[in-house]
Amino acid sequence: MNHFNYRENDLYCEDVAVKEIAQKVGTPFYLYSHATLARHIRHFQKAFAAVPHLVCFSAKANSNLAVMKVFVNAGAGVDIVSGGELFRALRAGCDPGKIVYSGVGKTEDEIIAALRNGIMMFNVESAAELEKINEVAGTLGVKAPIALRVNPDVDPQTHPYISTGMKKAKFGINIAQALEEYQRAQSLPHIQVVGVDCHIGSQLTSLSPFVDAIAKIRTLVSTLKAEGADLRYLDLGGGLGITYNNEMPPDLEDYAAAIQKATSDLSVTLVFEPGRVLVGNAGILVCRTLYVKKGEIKTFVITDAGMNDLIRPSLYGSYHGLMAVDRSVDERGTMVADVVGPICESGDFLAQDREIPAFETGDLIAVTSAGAYGFTMSSNYNSRPRVPEIMVQGERVMTVRQRETFEDLVRGETIPEDI
Ligand code: LLP
Repeated sequence: MNHFNYRENDLYCEDVAVKEIAQKVGTPFYLYSHATLARHIRHFQKAFAAVPHLVCFSAKANSNLAVMKVFVNAGAGVDIVSGGELFRALRAGCDPGKIVYSGVGKTEDEIIAALRNGIMMFNVESAAELEKINEVAGTLGVKAPIALRVNPDVDPQTHPYISTGMKKAKFGINIAQALEEYQRAQSLPHIQVVGVDCHIGSQLTSLSPFVDAIAKIRTLVSTLKAEGADLRYLDLGGGLGITYNNEMPPDLEDYAAAIQKATSDLSVTLVFEPGRVLVGNAGILVCRTLYVKKGEIKTFVITDAGMNDLIRPSLYGSYHGLMAVDRSVDERGTMVADVVGPICESGDFLAQDREIPAFETGDLIAVTSAGAYGFTMSSNYNSRPRVPEIMVQGERVMTVRQRETFEDLVRGETIPEDI
């Protein structure tokens, strides 16, 4: 459920007409619904209310400070993968004791910053990284709380670019070596083993990969406990999918029930790192039709948003819905067209061969399900300033990130003398 609905012919975000925001801030822009964000985090937490748990929002999906603050206000932690995300999480007011740090390439500086701030745990992805964290913690005179990210070798049945839990992936430590690595971790003086971690992929639309992964790692959890490890956390990552088009992802309640059933005897606090399921359908990208170009074979709707603003269709062939912001456009009937951006790349499209309303120059288009991995993956390619992020709460319209200017584009650049 989300709060983007039509009133008469106008698309609204909560109590504000999208066209009014477009008039004020120009296009393109990302638009987030506060009520949807708040509802999604509460829903997730409620589904696990019966067991000790912590939801750590995966910042990579949407790291806008105001978005993170909505989750922090609800008591959530943050899952980070870089020093930049640590900075953002802290700036959004997240308790460092609720921050988990994943990622295969943490640098020394990033490890130092995380230790100094007292994060909850590092999810360690290799033996070499474990050594490094031990060494850095030693220099700082502290013990680093860690979980090993275990790769359970299950196929999440999703796009290959977002599958992470198979043997061939760069992520995690192979389940067959995990026990040995844990024993080594236990022997390191500046490491404190506190958990087991596993994340198998993103946009999962069935429960079985989650259940299979738990089946594989639960023995490890019990063995480690039996060996005396003070194991407090079982981090099950993120990955729950959403509906972009006609996918039927599991209900949160079913996901929670399956996980609780598979972990009920383990006496651990469950940690989750959801990204997409919290923010994906809480955001849209609003753009304007610049031109309609009828080629010999295809019709192109050229919009002012391109692959630099939303790269998912180009990168993964992802589907995003396209809605007329003014629904009276639908009265013109439909056409089959490619919806493309202004970028000089043939791969620059929002949709291909799609049946859409017969858009004309000037029409506003809402690109749906764009709240996750939309703005965070956007870039300045073709020297295009990144678009603003707007949040609506009831009747309130807040600019939570300004549109970049041309000056922003060249910030930090210099022309050396005499070149
Ligand atoms: N935890 C870890 C360790 C992850 O690698 C990820 C996502 C998450 C949590 C959050 O997963 P989620 O709940 O959002 O599925 N750019 C791609 C998605 C990349 C996902 C990377 N890792 C996309 O636009 O579909």
